[in-house]
Amino acid sequence: MSIAPFVQTPLEVAKKMLDLSQVRPGEMLYDLGCGDGRLIILAAKDIGAKSTGIELREDLVERAKTEIKRLNLEDKVKIVQGNFFDVNISDADVVTLYLTSSANERLRPKLEAELKAGARVISHDFKVPGWKPSAVYNELLGHTIYTYRVGEQL
Ligand SMILES: C[S@@+](CC[C@H](N)C(=O)[O-])C[C@H]1O[C@@H](n2cnc3c(N)ncnc32)[C@H](O)[C@@H]1O
Repeated sequence: MSIAPFVQTPLEVAKKMLDLSQVRPGEMLYDLGCGDGRLIILAAKDIGAKSTGIELREDLVERAKTEIKRLNLEDKVKIVQGNFFDVNISDADVVTLYLTSSANERLRPKLEAELKAGARVISHDFKVPGWKPSAVYNELLGHTIYTYRVGEQL
């Protein structure tokens, strides 16, 4: 079931999210509700991370797959078509979100159960209710990026 509409994170904001996540080459990034795949593609292309996007909408999955193929990133970037609540993300070093506050609230128990200490959760515009961010970035006009570090917010 979709718990957020498709709205793209602007590229400049996506780059800043990756910057704030401190994702490193070889680390694993998940984008929950990956839309057209821009975050998972940038993480692999610009940083050399491995990434997985999970997306319900078939048209967006196809769009992302076409771009991943065009950029020859198939060895680094994976797309799962489905509900992110059904996918285990315990190997994540970084999770990116652009959903809603209520979606983040519903995701919180899954994130707490599956993520390892030191994993970073980076959320565009919406807080994870009940968690304390380690940083809040709002220098890109009209956008706020919340950074959380698992093990530090509880
Ligand atoms: C606001 S868009 C963000 C897209 C992308 N992450 C970005 O930042 O550009 C949210 C996406 O989440 C997807 N979505 C919503 N609920 C979902 C669910 N339960 N499982 C997988 N994808 C979902 C929507 O189809 C939409 O593409």
